[in-house]
Amino acid sequence: MSEDSPTPTEMVYPLTPADPADVSRETSAPADDETPIAAAAAAAARIRGGRTEVWPRPRHTRILTVANQKGGVGKTTTTVNVAAALAMHGLRVLVIDLDPQGNASTALAVPHHAGEPSVYEVLVEGEPLSSAVHAVEAIAGLDCVPATIDLAGAEIELVSLVARESRLQRALTALLRDSESAGRRYDYVFVDCPPSLGLLTINAFVAAQEVFIPIQCEYYALEGLGQLMRNVELIQSHLNPDLAVSTIVLTMYDGRTRLAAQVADEVRKHFGGLVLDTAIPRSVRVSEAPSYSQTVLTYDPGSSGALSYLEAAREMAHRASTPEGGAST
Ligand SMILES: Nc1ncnc2c1ncn2[C@@H]1O[C@H](COP(=O)(O)OP(=O)(O)OP(=O)(O)O)[C@@H](O)[C@H]1O
Ligand SMILES: [Mg+2]
Repeated sequence: MSEDSPTPTEMVYPLTPADPADVSRETSAPADDETPIAAAAAAAARIRGGRTEVWPRPRHTRILTVANQKGGVGKTTTTVNVAAALAMHGLRVLVIDLDPQGNASTALAVPHHAGEPSVYEVLVEGEPLSSAVHAVEAIAGLDCVPATIDLAGAEIELVSLVARESRLQRALTALLRDSESAGRRYDYVFVDCPPSLGLLTINAFVAAQEVFIPIQCEYYALEGLGQLMRNVELIQSHLNPDLAVSTIVLTMYDGRTRLAAQVADEVRKHFGGLVLDTAIPRSVRVSEAPSYSQTVLTYDPGSSGALSYLEAAREMAHRASTPEGGAST
């Protein structure tokens, strides 16, 4: 677990604000974490009609693994907020929480106490994924498969199991087939990975077509990315030839520092068009939202963080990841 990860969720969440007025807001009075990029994203989102716009459906279900073995870079925050933004624009979205910390399950207010049907039973006991799917109450069109603390043992338990690298892929293929034949096709699946490159993350790579990498705008941002890329190549050559890094998003961007701009330039130089134009600003509201079991989009929809995640998700919906995965017109 990374140093700055939240405390294990069952111990402290959900917090209930005593009075809605107690919840701090950015909407009316911009906080000092407002950045030029956030302001531009906000303006763009407003011009485009904010949440009323319906975004294009991809031709096929896009399956994205959100990975970076570096801890605390914004994998979970990006997963839940991008997923929520897509669902709020008319798309059907599934989040699979593959991190024993269960942070994505917390942010989406999905029950994930030990013993709750979760991704653990799917991976280790071979239960169908459908038995662990929960609808996210606050956001229509968004479902989540939670992770419980049981998943902490799965890395070891998986080692001795048959087809240990492809157990998630098998379960997900069955779920997607069944939901499609029931007329409820998912448009997006996001798999939130733990900060490691163990068997859980390998299962996510084997199940996905796309790797989505959040990079924190800080000094050591690129450290370890080479290893991540090599792992993706290994998976491509041995287990999943369809896998490709499709999307990179810059997170926790602080426009007041030269360092953030330098890191952003460096990442764009290395990865070019894979990097979303929208960078996510460092924003207090983004970090507060999970303590209320919410995404920032429901917690403070007008905040710079919410508007930037909306803009990033809009970019993703309009970008064709592959010729086959392109948006339908
Ligand atoms: N844009 C942001 N502004 C401010 N705080 C943020 C932002 N994005 C993420 N955070 C905070 O940074 C911390 C790490 O974020 P997050 O949990 O999403 O990272 P992670 O990569 O999923 O971590 P882990 O590797 O432990 O799974 C959290 O406390 C989160 O609230
Ligand atoms: Mg996480």
